[in-house]
Amino acid sequence: MLLSTFVPMLGLWLSISTSAVASPNFQFHRLERPSGQSQNGGLEPAKSSPRLGSQCNLHTSAEERAEENKSLRRMRSSHRAGEWSDVTIPVHFHILASNETEAGGWLPDEQIEAQMQVLNDDFAAVQINWELVNVTRIINERWFHGLGDKPVEKMWLEVGKELRVGGIDVLNIYTSEHAEGLGYASMPSFFDGTVESLTSDGIVINAYTLPGGRYAPYNGGRTLTHEAGHWAGLHHTFVEEEDRVKEGCDGNGDYVDDTPAQLEPTYDCQQRDTCAEQEGLDPINNFMDYSFDTCLQEFTPGQIERMRQEIATYREIE
Ligand SMILES: *[C@@H]1O[C@H](CO)[C@@H](O)[C@H](O)[C@H]1NC(C)=O
Ligand SMILES: *[C@@H]1O[C@H](CO)[C@@H](O)[C@H](O)[C@H]1NC(C)=O
Ligand SMILES: *[C@@H]1O[C@H](CO)[C@@H](O)[C@H](O)[C@H]1NC(C)=O
Ligand SMILES: [Zn+2]
Repeated sequence: MLLSTFVPMLGLWLSISTSAVASPNFQFHRLERPSGQSQNGGLEPAKSSPRLGSQCNLHTSAEERAEENKSLRRMRSSHRAGEWSDVTIPVHFHILASNETEAGGWLPDEQIEAQMQVLNDDFAAVQINWELVNVTRIINERWFHGLGDKPVEKMWLEVGKELRVGGIDVLNIYTSEHAEGLGYASMPSFFDGTVESLTSDGIVINAYTLPGGRYAPYNGGRTLTHEAGHWAGLHHTFVEEEDRVKEGCDGNGDYVDDTPAQLEPTYDCQQRDTCAEQEGLDPINNFMDYSFDTCLQEFTPGQIERMRQEIATYREIE
């Protein structure tokens, strides 16, 4: 059923309402402009670097995650660790550019190949093989710059309408110089069977985050790994800013049991323990934290199981 509306509200960047597949309950996915840009670990962003603290623009609320947990439990296939086989997911790259230079977004084939290598290495333990099917390059100044100040999701409906390929089991990646941060992704449960939710399914990453790009220390290709983690159903390992005061370390977090409680994202590579009362140090090496690319190294077994259940349930990939 159709329910995909854009509702600009005060303090809310945008909220997309979708209904879950075959579920009468609506899920609300609130995509907010991060306001935590002061929390940059004391690091000053370089001129050509992204604003720290806004690495990723996908943020879900505690209510949304709880709602999703219900639907997932109700609908998921019986996948348990070790009970699945390798899957291959087709990937379409859409390179948005303002001109035919790398600075203008016209990424060389070698960077895309290196990026696919990083993605496949990082997902080897998940037994997901990402297969590059096609690379499309489009010169469009407005798209490259992220449609001005308009949010990424709005851009998607316009760009996705023109460019998106395949069903909900196909990954479409758009590269651009969108000013909002490093990346953004849609989660599996955002898909509600409507054309709109299909059109806006995919990942946007900043063109300069691919391996060898100019966004050091975020140029190791891990922005895509992180966003692909969302696309496959993972939340951040840390408590989202809007839940920090309300829930502190005591909330349900990312609904994965083996990721230690973490109150705040890591903006560098230093080990912290932001939930000292609880077991485990901050998972600074987890792909779903915000650490520098060189420090992002792993998914936990619990995250792997969740991804396999999510993509089987919502994307019919199994
Ligand atoms: C997730 O959903 C299941 C089934 O409805 C429930 O038993 C479980 O307590 C939920 N988990 C959390 C952390 O709310
Ligand atoms: C290409 O686009 C980039 C980014 O907009 C710009 O900085 C650069 O000057 C452009 N180069 C040429 C040759 O037009
Ligand atoms: C690959 O992209 C080109 C445009 O760059 C397009 O003409 C072609 O249809 C695409 N092929 C597939 C299989 O999507
Ligand atoms: Zn993220």
